Amino acid sequence: MKPVSSHRPFASACRLLLAVLVLSVPTQLAGQQLRVPAPATPLETVGGMVVSEHHVASRVGAEVLAAGGNAVDAAIATGFALAVTHPSAGNIGGGGFMVIRFPDGSTTALDFREKAPLRAFPQMWLDEDGEYSSRRHHDSHLAVGVPGTVAGFDKAHLLYGRVNWERLVYPAVALADDGFEVHEGLARGLRSLVERTPYEATREAFSNGGVPYEAGDTIRQPDLASTLNRIMLGRAEGFYRGRTAELLAAEMERGGGMITLEDLARYRARERAPITGSYRGYDIISMPPPSSGGVAMVTMLNMLEGYEMGEIEHNSPEYVHLLAEAMRRAYADRARFLADPDRVDVPVHALTAKARADSLRATIDPARATPSDLDEVAQWPESPETTHYSVVDEDGMAVSVTYTLEQGYGSEIVVPGAGFLLNNEMGDFNAAPGMTTEGGLIGTTPNLARPEQRMLSSMTPSIVARDGELVAVVGSPGGRTIINTVMQVILNRIDHDMSPLDAVGAPRLHHQWFPDRISIEAAGVSEAEAERLRAMGHTVRVGGRQGLAHSIFIDPATGRRVGVPDPRNSNAGAAGH
Ligand code: DON
Repeated sequence: MKPVSSHRPFASACRLLLAVLVLSVPTQLAGQQLRVPAPATPLETVGGMVVSEHHVASRVGAEVLAAGGNAVDAAIATGFALAVTHPSAGNIGGGGFMVIRFPDGSTTALDFREKAPLRAFPQMWLDEDGEYSSRRHHDSHLAVGVPGTVAGFDKAHLLYGRVNWERLVYPAVALADDGFEVHEGLARGLRSLVERTPYEATREAFSNGGVPYEAGDTIRQPDLASTLNRIMLGRAEGFYRGRTAELLAAEMERGGGMITLEDLARYRARERAPITGSYRGYDIISMPPPSSGGVAMVTMLNMLEGYEMGEIEHNSPEYVHLLAEAMRRAYADRARFLADPDRVDVPVHALTAKARADSLRATIDPARATPSDLDEVAQWPESPETTHYSVVDEDGMAVSVTYTLEQGYGSEIVVPGAGFLLNNEMGDFNAAPGMTTEGGLIGTTPNLARPEQRMLSSMTPSIVARDGELVAVVGSPGGRTIINTVMQVILNRIDHDMSPLDAVGAPRLHHQWFPDRISIEAAGVSEAEAERLRAMGHTVRVGGRQGLAHSIFIDPATGRRVGVPDPRNSNAGAAGH
């Protein structure tokens, strides 16, 4: 059996030197007092802050802020730290999106979504008999997209970072190399992963020499530390070329995947113009395609703006009905029109225009559900494993990041010798041309797998402003529920004047057009209210958990920021200065 903490030689020798070089750089704010409340506790400050899924990663980001880094720097450091401390979704082997609002009110977005390999084709998940194989689509080496995260962070830093790159990656190297304490939820997740995985490298990375970790144990990830070290020294090239790339390509070849060294060398993150909309005088800034998030959320908000939502009791049957009808319509548009804008003409302006919402709203019956069209069917259901974090710096620069491996632990394939998990994001492409089934597959053309196309996403990192002032930084995991989660946090603040904690904590609901049903968190409706919705023609499912919307709210009058780790996860955390 392998010893538990097999430190690699680089760790002790080079790290000491690097730590001295990296952490001793003098910075303008060095010495600022860090504020790190207990996990799952809101934080109020006038300085910068980070709110993320893991309190240690938030602290890493906050330290960068306190050392003079800006919100982009902190977002990069937090992202690398989450790749160590939150392995089910934090990643370097996946992809995601970053929306940025600068203190002068200008905005931008970075797209580091995974892309299909050069050899991809629309029928790639059909087996030898021409039958669709969900295993190939979601649970195989073919399900792995070319990762984007490291290129995204590299580009964000080149364009907008302020402190040196090594300072941002080093904390993650140290966390992987020294280890960190396993909490209850992580122990449960890793036990289940190592018990079911057929991959030896996955078992090795996430068990203690084959024995599952218990809460309170320290988990060290020496191979991951080595990979992060290559990234620290080589930036994106440390991932997309050289040893890391070779290890990844070798695992693809071994397991029958498609990603080659050429695919990796050709990956580029893209800077895009955010989706912008307005809701009752507030500016909404969100992620454009290849995410469907911004377009769908703005379409829904436009529809809801036509009702006096603030006058309707929150989560009453009337309220739930209007939300569900708006959701149903926006998600139908999503399936019809949205995909990678570099490959497909996406009518973004038409879809987000107020006129489009007016015509959709006109079809809503205030008293009856409109059944979803039977020809229009759903995609593969996603699990709630992605992760969102929010950052604001002292100057008011705001960064909203959602990134993912797709399902929890992605493909569950750890690259042998490189210690990181690969995504299974190819599952976000449609199943096959024309393959639309009542069982939940979709075969419409725009989002089919094609060489180097980016798969459609629902991730909705968003920022809200008003009269030129920053108001909120919001986002969530949750597959297709993401868009609805983010919208409800925004509605809760704008229409219902909820406190920051209530806006994030209030029970949420979801409708996605097909399956034609409303899901509501248990505390969201009483049994009598659920019955009233059923009488209006809705199918209603009560229960489950929706999203983890780690958010920051800003009071423009005082400049105070309130960071709210979503109370649905006791291990999330805010940290700031
Ligand atoms: O990009 C997407 O929309 C999905 N792959 C996100 C997956 C997800 O959120 C899973 N659960 N939280």
